[in-house]
Amino acid sequence: MNENLHQLRCFGCGARISGAEAQPDFRCVECGDLFEVEYPGWGQRGGSDRPNPGALKWLWRERRCSSEDLDHSGVWRFRELLPILDSFGNVVTLREGDTPLYQLKRAAKALGIDQLYAKHQGMNPTGSFKDTGMTAAMSVAKERGFEWVACASTGNTSAAMAAYAARAGLKSLVLIPDGKIAWGKLSQAMDYGALTCQLKADFDGCLKLLTQIVKEAPIYLLNSVNPYRLEGQKTPAFEIAEAFDWNVPDHLIVPGGNLGNSSALGKGFREMYELGLVARLPRISVVQAAGANPLVRSLEENHGASLEPVEAHTRATAIRIGNPASWRKAVRVIQDTGGWCLDVTEAEIAIAKAELGSEGLGCEPASAVTLAGLKKLCAEGKIASNESVVLLLTGHTLKDADYTIEFHRGTLLEKVETAGYEAEISRLQRNAISVDATPAAVLAALKDRVG
Ligand code: F0G
Repeated sequence: MNENLHQLRCFGCGARISGAEAQPDFRCVECGDLFEVEYPGWGQRGGSDRPNPGALKWLWRERRCSSEDLDHSGVWRFRELLPILDSFGNVVTLREGDTPLYQLKRAAKALGIDQLYAKHQGMNPTGSFKDTGMTAAMSVAKERGFEWVACASTGNTSAAMAAYAARAGLKSLVLIPDGKIAWGKLSQAMDYGALTCQLKADFDGCLKLLTQIVKEAPIYLLNSVNPYRLEGQKTPAFEIAEAFDWNVPDHLIVPGGNLGNSSALGKGFREMYELGLVARLPRISVVQAAGANPLVRSLEENHGASLEPVEAHTRATAIRIGNPASWRKAVRVIQDTGGWCLDVTEAEIAIAKAELGSEGLGCEPASAVTLAGLKKLCAEGKIASNESVVLLLTGHTLKDADYTIEFHRGTLLEKVETAGYEAEISRLQRNAISVDATPAAVLAALKDRVG
């Protein structure tokens, strides 16, 4: 470990420890809170460890044309801002990151906003944003000599972990809620060779159990309580800033589940600001599903001072989480950047997902909460027409094809859920139709559509 460059700081009591001193569950022995990676050398202006913003911007751009393996990763291209390894020779990469930033012209027009973009993290090697965090934490696991790694998951973390473990030659253990994860994700964990245990528990129960297991066996925990995961997951913030020529967008909208991702992106923007790479922060807003909204409730009820776990229910299974581990970090990001935290209904999620699909950008249901949330923020007058907005799409549409097919067939939502949205939904539904295998029948079907 590169102990002289980084240390871990407890988010609750501020205690500082070296990376090697972390407990297997990554909780502080003093207060039980989570740690954040900190780089002490960056604080001293003029100090030799403090990165030079102008030189970094130039170097990172140059690396786009480099033939070196490490530079082909959109995470390790920014390695000066995540010096967490003793040797970059230990990096486990699948060429993650450097994901596209798409303009959303139709949604922008409908909402009366000039500049609306989607940063599509579903375009990562295993189809979700988890890859950016997994390359970082898996590299640490490998460098520290672990043979086994493990995670509890709603599906995407397990897919990413299993793939990166396979690349690193490590064994992986996955705990998932039985029957509550999308098939695409489960198939990935199996294919990449993980030991996959389906438990009669929800995500929160799986994580609790795993926390006990890692205290008893030498298994490296790869959930986002592991602070190295968040170091990788902060790099899309660098990519977004770079794409905006180091002027950050006015708003970034992120889905909220276990709340690691919003915390990581907030850290990325904050570090860029502190190092002088950008001159301001975007407002970072977090959107949850209405049936899995503990952070929304916490901020409404006590301004984020405490969080009451909820029993989570949503078809957006990726964010079906009632007791998010990183909620304190997310509260700070929202409050420090002047963002909002809001929730959206099942019908709003399904409609937003279909709208993104109709622009040629599929995504997972959990990702679509961002567009659904943006619509609400616009309706409340919280976003001005001349402001720029980036939606963070977290997962690929093929992860949960069942959801999409059910939406288009009209079997996804209950009547009570669609009340008031019937016209919007039927305008978006594109069910497949059975047609005779003759030119005349296909032409007739076409005529129906055109007419
Ligand atoms: N979107 C997708 C597609 C996800 O898979 C997740 C989380 C989130 C959003 C929420 O991110 O937890 O950092 O707030 N999935 C985890 C998993 C929990 O196990 O794959 P978060």
